[in-house]
Amino acid sequence: SSAMAEERPLAVVTCTAPVNIAVIKYWGKRDNDLILPINSSLSVTLHQDQLKTTTTAAASRDFAEDRLWLNGEEADVGHPRLQACLREVRRLARKRRGGSAEDAAALSLSYKIHIATENNFPTAAGLASSAAGYACLVSALARLYGVEGELSEVARRGSGSACRSMMGGFVQWQRGERPDGRDSIAHQVAPETHWPELRVLILVVSGEKKQVGSTAGMQTSVDTSPLLKHRAEVVVPERLALMTQHIRERDFEGFGKLAMQDSNQFHATCLDTFPPIFYLNDISRHIIALAHRFNAHHGHTKVAYTFDAGPNAVIFTLADTVDEFVEVVRRSFPPAVNGDQFMRGLPVGSASLPEEMLTAVVMEPVPGAIQYILHTKPGPGPQLVDDPSQHLLGTDGLPRCC
Ligand code: DP6
Repeated sequence: SSAMAEERPLAVVTCTAPVNIAVIKYWGKRDNDLILPINSSLSVTLHQDQLKTTTTAAASRDFAEDRLWLNGEEADVGHPRLQACLREVRRLARKRRGGSAEDAAALSLSYKIHIATENNFPTAAGLASSAAGYACLVSALARLYGVEGELSEVARRGSGSACRSMMGGFVQWQRGERPDGRDSIAHQVAPETHWPELRVLILVVSGEKKQVGSTAGMQTSVDTSPLLKHRAEVVVPERLALMTQHIRERDFEGFGKLAMQDSNQFHATCLDTFPPIFYLNDISRHIIALAHRFNAHHGHTKVAYTFDAGPNAVIFTLADTVDEFVEVVRRSFPPAVNGDQFMRGLPVGSASLPEEMLTAVVMEPVPGAIQYILHTKPGPGPQLVDDPSQHLLGTDGLPRCC
């Protein structure tokens, strides 16, 4: 009844968390259960104004069972990775409260929880959502139980790349050496304010089909690719040091070239996997060629692409290049329908392209190949949402939406 709800109010917390895009890729685990990688990786956290996950976690003595809703649809709460995150946050809470002694003011660890989570971007767009999702889950649970400290280690148990979404700006996930994973954590290389001119364009390609998932794909690569072994042991350690330096110096040419090379090597390890894995498609390859023609036309690296386990391109560039490159993309991949929705996110100005650019860079247009472009930039880590009207769960502990 409502009277009972008033007597025993819900403990409820809402957080948001960002997506991140790796410029030195994580691909391959040395421990599948603890999610320990074979190499360190480095990413840029993207701004939550354009891409974010929101998660509300609630606990109550009145809840009969743990429950989960994803974008309004009830989902399986028994997923082993979700359970690992829940178990780890509760373990940290217990530790903080001093062994088994219950802190009377603290939330009971025996209460069941309800979790609701949603993305502000279409899941169908194929933009990695598990990193933001697990970073958000762990942030909300940690707040709910009053846990602080090393939470990237917990987020890592949900999805490897999720540990990098626990911080804003430029983030390194160090592989660590310990078998228990205590040193396999994320740390910030530079905050989101470090490089104000850096911009990100996500080119969402059309006709996306289901890919081999990252988890299964990287396992096959670890088992079969000698190139991946060489990459993890020799190439990545050198590149990490270089990439960190390029970021510290805000050296776009160095940063961009190395990001492209690392993306290309990651996809080469996929081709070296047996049976091979193909994440890039013809449109992806068109975008790669276009970026290289654009850079060649300017005589230096003005745009850099990177691709994860799917065909969508993520382009890094500087603010002064956005308008021109977007126009080049628009000319090369003319929108099939509703051209007004082609550009999304941060504003883009108009640009007129010189004739040489049209002949040397644009060349043969492929209409409809790109669905839309999302313009964003580096952003901060997970945030606590103070406004109670933003909770995804109502006072009855059930989803408010849908
Ligand atoms: C290509 O973090 O999704 O995006 O740890 O198995 O959940 P699991 O894999 P996941 O892999 C991400 C792979 C990548 C590269 C990267 O983000 O570093």
